[in-house]
Amino acid sequence: MAKEIGVSLLGLGVVGSGIAQQLIAKEHTYTQQVGSKLVLNHVLVRDKNKNRDIQISQQLFADSIDQIINDDKTDIVIEVIGGEEPAKSFITQALNSKKHVVTANKELIAKHGPELISVARENNVRILFEASVAGGTPIIAPVLRDFSGNNITSIKAIINGTTNYILSRMSTENADYFEVLKDAQKLGYAESDPTNDVEGIDAAYKLSILSSLSYKSFVKDSDVYCEGITNISAKDFQIAKELGYEIKLIAFSEFKDNKVSARVHPTLISKNQMLANVHGVLNSVQIETDLIGEVLFHGAGAGSLPTASAVLADVIDISRNISSGFVNLDYMNIDQNASIVEISNLNTKYYIRVSANDEPGVLSRISTILADHKISIASFIQKSSHEGIAELVIMTHEALEKSIQEALNQIRNLSVVKAIENSIRVMD
Ligand code: NAP
Ligand code: HSE
Repeated sequence: MAKEIGVSLLGLGVVGSGIAQQLIAKEHTYTQQVGSKLVLNHVLVRDKNKNRDIQISQQLFADSIDQIINDDKTDIVIEVIGGEEPAKSFITQALNSKKHVVTANKELIAKHGPELISVARENNVRILFEASVAGGTPIIAPVLRDFSGNNITSIKAIINGTTNYILSRMSTENADYFEVLKDAQKLGYAESDPTNDVEGIDAAYKLSILSSLSYKSFVKDSDVYCEGITNISAKDFQIAKELGYEIKLIAFSEFKDNKVSARVHPTLISKNQMLANVHGVLNSVQIETDLIGEVLFHGAGAGSLPTASAVLADVIDISRNISSGFVNLDYMNIDQNASIVEISNLNTKYYIRVSANDEPGVLSRISTILADHKISIASFIQKSSHEGIAELVIMTHEALEKSIQEALNQIRNLSVVKAIENSIRVMD
């Protein structure tokens, strides 16, 4: 048998514990698959004295990153700390010391992917990050390998498990937002700071990575228009259902005329669409290509063992390279920045919920503003009237985003309008 392959783990939290547990429990299986023994050499954490669920020898805990970087027996460094720093410095040091890197860190890859890939190339080592998008559901490897003969034209996805879990329970059980968020944190789905989940930022990082690899140019995280789910109320779920829709945090990107548009926002999605029926922590990614048409990837998007599965696939892939003596350098062509279409230039349908005085002429004033902005109304419902205030729901046909926003501002300023309670883009 070839030499042992040494693996060191940075982080032993939700994901790191799953990885360590599997590396120890499945040592024999992995050895058979790789042709060399995979050995967990070191684990680096913030606090060595913390009580942990996982049983791990104290001797495995490293004193510092330097102990791992200087360890000749470590061939692969797994980074599951999260965030930009110190993760970026640790990964850069590992690559510069000719160690392969596997990471689940979407923030880091979305912000610094091209730079880290280029450091890996300069050192003839690999950096892989399957777990950074859609947790346990394979998506990056298929995009890089199985679609290489295709042009990918669009991506439509649910890629944040926490928000899908929250929205699903709010929709089906009328559950309270904060209670469900707490459950998502207990289950290990949420980021250490869940703001990134609920504000759509985590999904934007993932869409940036997937779009960059799919369209072969760098789509920065700041290129992805992003809105979160914190403004969705029980009322919106109720009305959406009556109209035949679910509300989901949809990540959508498209490559058209050599330009990329990319956005993450709550969406009223028709119940006929597959993504409307993806519930709980599950993720789903629909990729459209010129040769195949639509292909669907569906599975667990977060959690300890599903995410460990994606990390371990990368570790085993690299280990096979090391074992065979042939390092297969990755072809990720994302050095050029993508040309981006701004959200204001996109066409979308809208759901608009307004509370306004229940008196003659109100609807006519609102519809005049919409008409002035070339926005055509698809349907209009007056839901209720209470103490002289009516709740109006307007569904529009497709209109220019810029025009919708201008019209909403004018409607908001009408003296007869109490508030625009919500405005959500619609996907039929
Ligand atoms: P986590 O539970 O918060 O664990 C983070 C780990 O990193 C902890 O073990 C912590 O040490 C360690 N750590 C933090 N700062 C450190 C430092 N300065 N030096 C050394 N170690 C440090 O996070 P997680 O949920 O496992 O997520 C890890 C990464 O995986 C993130 O990039 C996340 O976005 C990504 N990810 C997570 C999931 C998921 O479902 N959770 C899914 C896909 C991707 P202590 O234990 O001593 O505090
Ligand atoms: N917090 C992330 C989510 C973890 O909920 O999807 C998986 O990347």
